[in-house]
Amino acid sequence: TLPRVYITRQIPPEGLKILRESGQVQFELWDSDDVPVPRKELLQKVKGVDGLVCVLTEKIDTELLDAAGPNLKVLSTMSVGFDHLSLEELKKRGIRVGYTPDVLTNSVAELTVALLLTTSRRLIEATHEAKTGGWGTWRTLWLCGHELAGSTVGILGLGRIGVAIAERLAPFKVKKFIYADVAPRPELASVINAEYDFLSVCCALTPETKEICNKDLFSKMKNTSIFINTSRGGVVNQEDLYEALSTGQIAGAGLDVTVPEPLPTSHPLFTLKNCVILPHIASASYATRNNMSALAANNLLLGLRGEPMIKELKL
Ligand code: GLV
Ligand code: GLV
Repeated sequence: TLPRVYITRQIPPEGLKILRESGQVQFELWDSDDVPVPRKELLQKVKGVDGLVCVLTEKIDTELLDAAGPNLKVLSTMSVGFDHLSLEELKKRGIRVGYTPDVLTNSVAELTVALLLTTSRRLIEATHEAKTGGWGTWRTLWLCGHELAGSTVGILGLGRIGVAIAERLAPFKVKKFIYADVAPRPELASVINAEYDFLSVCCALTPETKEICNKDLFSKMKNTSIFINTSRGGVVNQEDLYEALSTGQIAGAGLDVTVPEPLPTSHPLFTLKNCVILPHIASASYATRNNMSALAANNLLLGLRGEPMIKELKL
């Protein structure tokens, strides 16, 4: 009989088509994209499966893996991030893990540039003023922001996405880029002490990067600088960020990711005009989400056949 697979979300059509047409698996899915599968249902559904396709809203931890049982050989996440996965536990059980880097690099880099410009040029405030009567007259310093031309940009996390962001920002006539990868630590210190106008964070969330953007970092930033995060909310200490934004320690922040997600509408960060918050949409282009879905499907099929996946996490 065919390997059994559970899919924790109604993923975009490309991936489902690949699985259906492969004739290699029998799958069941949580047939909604609007709400995640309830944990209880998930724990039921994974019982005895050989493969699992998940998205980043599912915690793949000891409880889940215990519920799945020893048949589970392949996990395929439709995400580049892997902080929702207990990697040690997966490794211990010999479960192979596929993920979806590369196919989302363009989309994430484009969104990062969009978010950076939206924040630095205060676009959300500006449209709000225009449509709510704040536009009394053209004013000389009203809604002024900070420009990229001549600026210094810090890129924290110099992976595929960090490079792609820098490539896209360079034509805006950025004067200087300061790159830092997160390990080893000394490099992090050099970026923290750097005099940049924009800092874009695009590293993976790992134990090493948890809350690396905290008051130490914000207190060394210029009060004209802009902080952008399109990685994971967990790399930021949000209380420290709130403090830095509300006291004018930094000029603005653009966040595509928060802790928790969704961020409650009553959260203090939502009260700040200089904080632009997006609902985790960096990879959200139709092309990219379909490509992620297809890659997740192909990783799963290859894994179940015991072949190398297209994109496999080294555990
Ligand atoms: C998005 O955040 C992803 O990890 O793919
Ligand atoms: C702006 O619109 C200008 O004419 O300076």
